[in-house]
Amino acid sequence: VTLSGSPHDFDAFVRGYAAGDIDDGAMTQWLREVFAHGLADEETFSLTMALAHSGKVIEWPEIHEPVADKHSTGGVGDAVTLIAVPLAAACGVHVAKLSGRALGHTGGTIDKLECVPGLRTDLTIEEFKDQVRRVGCAVSAATADIAPAEKKLYALRHRTNTIASVPLIAASIMSKKIAAGATCIVLDVKFGEGAFMRTLDEAKSLAAAMESIGVRAGLSMKTLLTSMDEPLADSIGDGLELDEALTLMEDRGGSKPLREVAVAVAEAMVEAAGRPRAEVESALSSGRAREAFAAMIQAQGGRLAEFDRHWPAAHSMPAQRDGAVARIDARMLGEIVAAAKERSGGTAAQRLGVRIVRRVGDRVRRGEPLLLSWLPHDDAMHSALARTYTIADRAEPLPPRVMEGGARPGPER
Ligand code: URA
Repeated sequence: VTLSGSPHDFDAFVRGYAAGDIDDGAMTQWLREVFAHGLADEETFSLTMALAHSGKVIEWPEIHEPVADKHSTGGVGDAVTLIAVPLAAACGVHVAKLSGRALGHTGGTIDKLECVPGLRTDLTIEEFKDQVRRVGCAVSAATADIAPAEKKLYALRHRTNTIASVPLIAASIMSKKIAAGATCIVLDVKFGEGAFMRTLDEAKSLAAAMESIGVRAGLSMKTLLTSMDEPLADSIGDGLELDEALTLMEDRGGSKPLREVAVAVAEAMVEAAGRPRAEVESALSSGRAREAFAAMIQAQGGRLAEFDRHWPAAHSMPAQRDGAVARIDARMLGEIVAAAKERSGGTAAQRLGVRIVRRVGDRVRRGEPLLLSWLPHDDAMHSALARTYTIADRAEPLPPRVMEGGARPGPER
C-alpha cells in the first residue's frame, strides 16, 4: 500500500479499512512499513485527522470558553486524572475528558471511578456535554462512535505487534482527543521503567509528535514529561488509588509525587485555557477540588458516601535488611496487581492492590514494612513482591519528576 501523504488519500484509506474494503492483511503490511520507517509529519497529521473523523466529533458551541482535556500515556499509580480534572474545574475551566480502562501494567481511570457505587461511565455524548456545561467537568468512557476506525486499527496493532511506533501512538492518542473536541490539551508523557516510553528521549519524541499534530489542528497544547521510575501514588489498585486521591483532595495526606504531578497537570490545563495558574494550589488545599469531584461524581449517579474506604490490608512486606530503598520496580508492581485483578474479576478486583510505605530514598530497618498488600498471598506472591524492592547501603536520588515539554498556544479561537 502506498499513500501519497495527501489528506484525501489517508481519508479514503482509513474509511476503506473501517468499512472492510481494505482487509487486515493490507493494513498490516502498511502498519509494518510505518513501524519500520516512520511517517512524515504531514502524513501523521493526515492519518490522525482521518481517524478522528471516522466517527462523531464532539463540538462545544454552547460553551463560549476554552474546553480542556488531559491525557497521560499511562503509568503505575497514575491517579492524576481523578485529581487534576476537578482541580482545573474548581479553577473555572470546563473539562471534558474521555478516559480508558487499564492497559497492560498501567491502570485505567474508568476502572478507578467505577469503584464508586452507582457511578456511570457510559454517558451518551449528549449527557457528557450537558454535564460539562452544568457541572464544569465530566470523565466518561469513549462511546463506540468516537474514532471507531482508531479502535479497529488499535486492535490490529495489538495483534500484529505494531503498537510501539511513535507516529502510530501519536495519531492514535490525538485522534481520540480531537474527536472529543476540547480546544486545550495537556499531555502528560511518562518516561522511565514503569512507562511505555522507557527513556526521556523516546518520551520527548512522542511528545513532539503529539504537539505537532495538536498545533496543526489549531489546539492550545501543553506537554509535561513526567518520570515513572517509581509508582506515582502510594497505592496501586483501583479502590486504593481512588481512596488516596480523595485523601489528597481532603488535604489529609497522599503521595507527594502524585500531588506534584496532579498540580502540574492542573496548572498546565488552567494556563492552556488562558487563566492564571496561581489559583491551583489553593483550590486543592482549600477543598474546592474535592467539592468539584463530589459534584462530578453525583452528576454521574455515583454515591460517594457508599464507597467503603477502609478495608484492612492482608499482609505487610518487611525489609530484609537495614539500608535505603534504592529502587521500586513500578512496572513489576503494576503487572502483579493487574494479574491479580484479572484472576479475581468482578467487584472483588476493585479492592486488590498494594500501598507503598517506603519510597525510593527512604531509610529502613530490617523488619519494618516496605509495603502493605491487599493481594491473595502464597509463596510465589511473597517472592514476586519482595523482588520489586531493592534495598542498598544508599540510594541515588531520582531525577526531577516533572519537566515542561514546552507550551504552544494555538491560534486565537
Ligand atoms: N495509548 C493509546 O491510546 N494509543 C496507543 O497507540 C498507545 C497507547
